[in-house]
Amino acid sequence: MKRLYLSILLLLSLLPTWSQTQGLKDAMKGSFMIGTCVSGRDIWQSGNRMDSLLRQHFNCIVADNCMKHQRIHPQRDRYYWRDADQTVRFGEERHMTVIGHCLVWHSQVAPWMFTDDDGQEVSRDTLIARMRSHIHTVVGRYKGRIHGWDVINEAVNDDGTLRQSPYLRIIGPDYFRLAFQFAHEADPDAELYYNDYSMALPAKRHTVCQLVRRLKQEGCRIDAVGMQSHLSLRHPSIEEYERTIDSLAACGVKVMITELDVNVLPDPRRFRGADVGQRFGYEERMNPYKDHLPDSVYQQLEKRYLQLFNLYLHHREQITRVNLWGLDDGRSWLNNFPMRGRTNYPLLFDRRLQPKPVVQKIIDLFHQHARATL
Ligand code: GLA
Repeated sequence: MKRLYLSILLLLSLLPTWSQTQGLKDAMKGSFMIGTCVSGRDIWQSGNRMDSLLRQHFNCIVADNCMKHQRIHPQRDRYYWRDADQTVRFGEERHMTVIGHCLVWHSQVAPWMFTDDDGQEVSRDTLIARMRSHIHTVVGRYKGRIHGWDVINEAVNDDGTLRQSPYLRIIGPDYFRLAFQFAHEADPDAELYYNDYSMALPAKRHTVCQLVRRLKQEGCRIDAVGMQSHLSLRHPSIEEYERTIDSLAACGVKVMITELDVNVLPDPRRFRGADVGQRFGYEERMNPYKDHLPDSVYQQLEKRYLQLFNLYLHHREQITRVNLWGLDDGRSWLNNFPMRGRTNYPLLFDRRLQPKPVVQKIIDLFHQHARATL
């Protein structure tokens, strides 16, 4: 009896240690996948601190850049596979779900795509043929190994109009249907997504819902819409953001949070959303936390993350993946966007690859919820 009592005591004393080695992915099991993007630098190294954090906390990865058109298909007759192949292998070796990003996007697309040998804009038929060949080749290469693809990225403006990308201008709005159709032909089992930023804006939300409905009416496969979620401490409001999750789910697709980060720095006045085309010159006053993040600002960051993960937990029936845009603050694109050379703190791990206190709080949130629903 005494021995049993002692064993129980020992087990109880081990519990906190156990909960600390549990990662985000263990806590979120049964709710949704949790992922991050990885860069070339990450995938060519392994066995380091970054790798062990990835293994502990994440069960999903997406390449930040190496599958984008200009990287993977830099010239008309040349593909560059090395980094994309390694990314897929990297995920597989760690039993992670690999997401493909992205097939059709107005940015980071190789210039040859839209012009002929004389430098003239290509015809509609030529662009359709090139888009088809690109999608078939890239999706086909990883058939059965990539769980889902961001087929179209950022095709809607914040005011709800369609972005005047070369795809829209040359092919017309039919390019949506064609892109989804080509991706489905190349890998019928892969999930297919539309992905965009500032999705909490009512006009944008409305247009994306219309697009989803139309694609479905046209018989296309579309499994989810990605809400990139490049957020700041205050914008958007959690209510508008939640409205988008509900509206998308009502269109019959799942929701994915695909590029989550929370900018803590002041925004230049004319800056909106996450349009990669926006750039501003460096200003010292826009870089207030060069040495460290004041605790008062950290508290706001923590509150924002807890509010967001609470929301995701609440909507776990609708959300299938939450993906951060980077592992740690040092690797975040927000140190250089929309202004180069700033020190930002938007992620869950700090520059020394230490988890911020909010990580354990998020884990506890999911554990508490699991206990409450036992
Ligand atoms: C957009 C793209 C991402 C990435 C970020 C900036 O959100 O979808 O691939 O380029 O911009 O890093």
